Amino acid sequence: MKKKVLVARPTFPDVIERLQQYFDVDVNRGDVLPQEEFARRLADKDGAFTAGESVGDKELAGAPNLKVVSNMAVGYNNFDMHAFDAHGVLGTNTPNVLNETTADFGWALMMAAARRVTESEHFLRAGKWEKWSFDSFLGTDVYGSTLGVIGMGRIGQALARRAAGFNMRVMYHNRSRVAQEIERELNAEYASKEDLLRRADHVVLVVPYSKESHHTIGAPELALMKPTATLTNIARGGIVDDAALIAALRDKRIAAAGVDVFEGEPKFNPDFLLLDNVVLTPHIASATEATRRAMANLTADNLIAALGEGPRAGNPPNPINPDVLKK
Ligand code: GLV
Repeated sequence: MKKKVLVARPTFPDVIERLQQYFDVDVNRGDVLPQEEFARRLADKDGAFTAGESVGDKELAGAPNLKVVSNMAVGYNNFDMHAFDAHGVLGTNTPNVLNETTADFGWALMMAAARRVTESEHFLRAGKWEKWSFDSFLGTDVYGSTLGVIGMGRIGQALARRAAGFNMRVMYHNRSRVAQEIERELNAEYASKEDLLRRADHVVLVVPYSKESHHTIGAPELALMKPTATLTNIARGGIVDDAALIAALRDKRIAAAGVDVFEGEPKFNPDFLLLDNVVLTPHIASATEATRRAMANLTADNLIAALGEGPRAGNPPNPINPDVLKK
């Protein structure tokens, strides 16, 4: 008998077809499942394909056959990994395939914020453009300025690598320093968070979300930044205290921000909409056709392998808690 798999939200049809070669697949083709409904459909499954669904003790306890939950994202703060370990369930994610695409988008947001791209477009669309003026939409230079990357993992490094083309100084802060060869290659100076916030012209956040990284940037941190600086969050909602960011943008404590991820998304603080100096996007940093396909296929690869099928049977490419595979 085929093993049973839940695909918790819609994905590429050919990826579902790949899963159907091996498994009896229950696909949610509709809206995001309410948590109770997700747990109910997970209950008789051996594996699941998720994209942000919360999985913790309650869901795992209710699904006694479950071996693996494969998340279509590099971040997995939606998984309670203590519960996964306790229930002997494997979690997997999709690192690497989105590094360059996400770094590109970090730059897009940073540059749009610094150069007031969306704000000036809204002005034009509203029919307000009557003359060219020397002081219209003056922004902050990116070329030759100082980039501050908070979170120097794979995506942070990809972001920093692009700075050479803009003749930028690179500062970074991370839980631990990266290898010297990487610092040298990226021409990146390690700094405390406070030092980086004081000196950087453009701060980009790429840290994973955890209890420890909650509100990495709040009012005290924003107060350290230059009034001409920008802040870009492509990390996770909750890394920034959104209310504090809104206050800093409103009071022109900092010049502008780019925000792709929000506390409580897809809901977000409506006061963002009252501000001109923020570029707002709906969590799309990895959203190119090629990258989202690569992520979906990797999610399927992990699921197929973890359930003992396909060319990598028993050896999924991206285990988060590989110890459970030994049991
Ligand atoms: C997207 O936010 C991801 O974690 O992949």
